[in-house]
Amino acid sequence: MKIKGIDYQGLKTDNNVFLAPIAGYTDYAFRNLLIKLGIGLTFTELVSAKGIVYKNKGNSGLLYSGNDYDKTAVQIFGSEPYYMRKACESEELLPFSVVDINMGCPVPKIYKNGEGSALLKDVLLAESIVKECVKSGKIITVKIRTGLKQGDDIASEYAKMAEQSGASLITIHGRVREAYYSGEPDFNAIEKAKKSVSIPVIANGGIFTTKDATDMIDKTGADGIMLARGAIANPFLICELLGKEKPCTLKEFMLNHVKLRRKIMSDKRASIEFRKFIPYYFKGIEGVKELKMKLLNAEDTETILELLDKNF
Ligand SMILES: Cc1cc2nc3c(=O)[nH]c(=O)nc-3n(C[C@H](O)[C@H](O)[C@H](O)COP(=O)(O)O)c2cc1C
Repeated sequence: MKIKGIDYQGLKTDNNVFLAPIAGYTDYAFRNLLIKLGIGLTFTELVSAKGIVYKNKGNSGLLYSGNDYDKTAVQIFGSEPYYMRKACESEELLPFSVVDINMGCPVPKIYKNGEGSALLKDVLLAESIVKECVKSGKIITVKIRTGLKQGDDIASEYAKMAEQSGASLITIHGRVREAYYSGEPDFNAIEKAKKSVSIPVIANGGIFTTKDATDMIDKTGADGIMLARGAIANPFLICELLGKEKPCTLKEFMLNHVKLRRKIMSDKRASIEFRKFIPYYFKGIEGVKELKMKLLNAEDTETILELLDKNF
């Protein structure tokens, strides 16, 4: 795929390969490592707008971005324009220039509250959320899906609404809510949406290889791509796309990941939550069954580091 910077609202990214918001995975540690590998822009996982306004303590870890604020957008979710704007204007979001609005989360708890992908049912509400957030003076971006049910295609309608309401960039996850995270992305829906607006369109869904990335751009004409599970399964995909040498081995990447995690959270959390990454990191690697079992049972980071160092 052709690598180019993305211009939006006076900002320019180094390239057009972004890291998706992925709850439970893309915290500061993972984002920072991907930034070091060269990713163009990263996103925090979805953070509740109301939680930000009411200074929910749990949010500080989600928002923490070290020295990476220039390459990190914060993603917020909610259904009330008032709280969405207040969150944009909050002290907590002061270091972020870019705020992304989540209109894609399929999780029932969020959906039932009228948040995330439920906003795809009500374009007028979605529009007033974007307009209110824009008034905050932040650069506003929007992440949508192509609809709720199979056969839906609301991407162009929402892309136009987002542009007309003042959003600066839109990301389209080419799947409907019902599909969650499986199935081929709807390339046509993304292509139609891309043709209907002049703000940059970033395409997302099912990009695990350089071929997937090239296909996504060729089939949709999108300005850039957003990697999600593909970046966890192979963090060096970004290097392959940029045509760069890998600066370290997978083992070194994992060691750095664990070390960075324990700097920003308790040792227990850093080790226990690292377990989620193990199936991704070791996918397709032979002869690591025993190591994986040991890593999955490790309860402190020192044990994980030692296991990786000696056995991988
Ligand atoms: C575990 C998990 C958590 C996710 N959390 C978020 C989130 O916080 N915000 C968001 O907009 N999308 C979230 N997503 C969706 C991804 O950003 C992305 O749109 C989706 O995984 C499709 O891309 P992929 O097929 O390349 O993985 C999540 C996906 C997964 C699998």
